[in-house]
Amino acid sequence: MSVNPASVTNPPAQFPENFVFGGATAAYQVEGETRTHGKGKVAWDDFLEAQGRFSPDPASDFYNQYPVDLELCEEFGINGIRLSIAWSRIFPNGIGEINPEGVQFYHDLFAECHKHHVEPFVTLHHFDTPLPLFEKGDFLNRETIDAFVDFATFCFKEYADQVTYWFTFNEIWADASNTYIEGTFPGGVKAHLAEAFQCEHNMMLAHAKAVLAFHNGGFKGKIGVIQSLEFKYPLNENDPADIKAANNEHVLQNQFLLDATFRGDYAPDTLECANRLAAVSGGTIEILDEDLEIMREAALYNDYLGVNNYQCRFLKAYDGENDLHHNGTGEKGTGRWRVKGIGEHVNKPGVPTTDWDWIIYPEGLFDLLVYIKQRYPNYKQIFITENGMGYKDPYKDGFVDDQPRIDYIEQHLRWLLKAMEVGVNVGGYFLWSLQDQFSWTNGYNKRYGFFYVDFETQKRTPKASAYWYKHVAQTRRLD
Ligand code: BG6
Repeated sequence: MSVNPASVTNPPAQFPENFVFGGATAAYQVEGETRTHGKGKVAWDDFLEAQGRFSPDPASDFYNQYPVDLELCEEFGINGIRLSIAWSRIFPNGIGEINPEGVQFYHDLFAECHKHHVEPFVTLHHFDTPLPLFEKGDFLNRETIDAFVDFATFCFKEYADQVTYWFTFNEIWADASNTYIEGTFPGGVKAHLAEAFQCEHNMMLAHAKAVLAFHNGGFKGKIGVIQSLEFKYPLNENDPADIKAANNEHVLQNQFLLDATFRGDYAPDTLECANRLAAVSGGTIEILDEDLEIMREAALYNDYLGVNNYQCRFLKAYDGENDLHHNGTGEKGTGRWRVKGIGEHVNKPGVPTTDWDWIIYPEGLFDLLVYIKQRYPNYKQIFITENGMGYKDPYKDGFVDDQPRIDYIEQHLRWLLKAMEVGVNVGGYFLWSLQDQFSWTNGYNKRYGFFYVDFETQKRTPKASAYWYKHVAQTRRLD
């Protein structure tokens, strides 16, 4: 890292004029109505039913409540919203037959956004591949790539007059790792590093093909991809084994995907590490020359990168057997990530964590953004498309005092301003999440929103953080 954060002592407290102060959502986590109005199934439907822990219905009932949420956005100075289009609401089987009710729903939703002066930033895939495609191998099967591009092209045309800002995928790393390493997403494969890399590559190829369809189709607007990125630190900066562990995971999560995004190719050091890790699980990665040709061309047309960042990681060398345990309950200290060939997640003494064992280390956002700027100078702009704190919010006497969340956001915004001060071009910040939502692996007691949702009545109550953010958005200052 060639920039010393300590040297950036007094960053301006002021955000630029056109900075977007947003809130984020994802279709499956807010809409509800997962099996009605002509929507096709996704793998999550049966997976969650079989688990029996929690249901994605009604979630935040956004399918019906979106006018209420958008009115709240306007009232609280939130001028951008991340939304995703549920692929299986448009194409119930992923390809072929179209569901007109689903198509109309998103027209109405985007119209309501504009009525309230809230810009929609639209993601085309947020962990919700239609079931028939998922069952045929999801993105490990190249047929899904073509189906995705058809769906994306349909949306570019259909919503051209209403949507300016597009993202192809949400968090390719999370999709790949939760499915093929941690095994907490449908499919549930544990520690298969070759499949994780293959999934990343194939999704990046799908991204590239969708970007070219957008560019060659002459659509107005802008396009990019959202990656979930975390800066990786060796626990002991002087221990070569810890340094290697940090680098392994850095390549797997950050560098492989960013190389694909901005170079359209994988640098030799990236490939060496990826192939070595894939071999640990007895597999290889298939990367065709023709894939790289497409990806190299598409790399010219990324208008921005969406960065989802919640935490950083401290890594320690680990040679034992795979030992993975997901903290999906908020019982502090129950999460474990020890992967043969990569390393072990540990915490650094003195660094705070949430009840879900997520590390609170806002400097990590600064280091990450500076790294992107330095390694990929051809990036054009970054949006922080997710950042936030999952918390068991105390609802008392009609109010929610979520001061820990305010502190979390404020610290991250300060480090974001520091990064902007050293020249990182950031266009906006979206809190995860706009309102409380359904969490894929944690259900309903891990809340993230500005707006508290009573999941029984669907009543919204703005939390203290909403009032705080309103002031920041209106003044464009952190005071
Ligand atoms: C991101 C996802 O990984 O993190 C969201 O894009 C998700 O869909 C969010 O909900 C928070 O994760 P979790 O597991 O706390 O719900």
